[in-house]
Amino acid sequence: MRILSGIQPSGKLHLGNYFGMMKPALQLQEQGEAFLFIANYHALTTVNDPAQLREDTFDVALDFLACGLDPKRTVFFRQSDVPEVTELTWLLSTITPMGLLERCHSYKDKLAKGIAASNGLFSYPVLMAADILIYQSNLVPVGRDQKQHVEVTRDLAIKFNNLYGPVFTVPEPSIQEEVAVVPGIDGQKMSKSYGNTIELFSDLKETKARIMRIVSDSTPLEAPKDPDKCNIFALYKLFASPAERDDMAARYRAGSFGYGTAKKALFEVFEATFAPLRQRRAELARDRGYVADVLRNGAARARDEARKTLLAARRAMGIE
Ligand code: TRP
Repeated sequence: MRILSGIQPSGKLHLGNYFGMMKPALQLQEQGEAFLFIANYHALTTVNDPAQLREDTFDVALDFLACGLDPKRTVFFRQSDVPEVTELTWLLSTITPMGLLERCHSYKDKLAKGIAASNGLFSYPVLMAADILIYQSNLVPVGRDQKQHVEVTRDLAIKFNNLYGPVFTVPEPSIQEEVAVVPGIDGQKMSKSYGNTIELFSDLKETKARIMRIVSDSTPLEAPKDPDKCNIFALYKLFASPAERDDMAARYRAGSFGYGTAKKALFEVFEATFAPLRQRRAELARDRGYVADVLRNGAARARDEARKTLLAARRAMGIE
């Protein structure tokens, strides 16, 4: 079974990305043949600063390798290192109904946020379909916001296969329903656009300061507290073992346990998790050649697959 997912390089990763996207993506390594790529062609629809894009692309690669991506098991590459995907995008776009794209929520949401309505932004789902179909992917794990794009992909695969013969595997989305909402330090969903994040690899003092600023209510120190209404606990339990989690919950309920103490415990579990990863990341950052090699080898493997599918599509359509 081939499992494929892409991540846009969009700046410093935070705990919301880690628990919502990275951890599930890394677990794919255990479930089948995983392909994971850095979607830098997609990023061009919103990032117009070349230095920024280059840096963010390298940073995502470092983050994933530091957090446990095993390049022997996962085919890890940059989207743009397989340029065949852009040709397939064109081939697919010739059978893509306008209405299908006009209905996409993600496009409408981006316009609402003030992003310029370029053709690239509009046809973003066709590029995504090409990403998925070119590797004959079976399973595509994505967040809820991307589910519609996988449905567009299925529609296009089915339509193509009906028109031109069976070239593409029709993929299934796998939606991470059980992923917990990760609250930010202000209690809203953690998101870069809200400025409420705790970054994975920022300066340690900064991390601690942000943890100490997590909003809590004004229940007095002595009073029993409800862990399930507390942002600190919501973050703590993402890291903790079931036993640690139950223990912390019991201390909340017993009273005479303050939010300051809970924040210290949260900082400790954060550090226990990320200190070794930070060290690994620093080592990798000094070895750019290694990171480049990983991506190059991943691209070579991905490209073999992509060429086969593209050739089949070209033949089926009558241009080869
Ligand atoms: N659009 C996805 C996102 O923003 C990233 C992505 C691009 C992707 N191509 C993909 C995800 C193919 C899964 C499969 O999150």
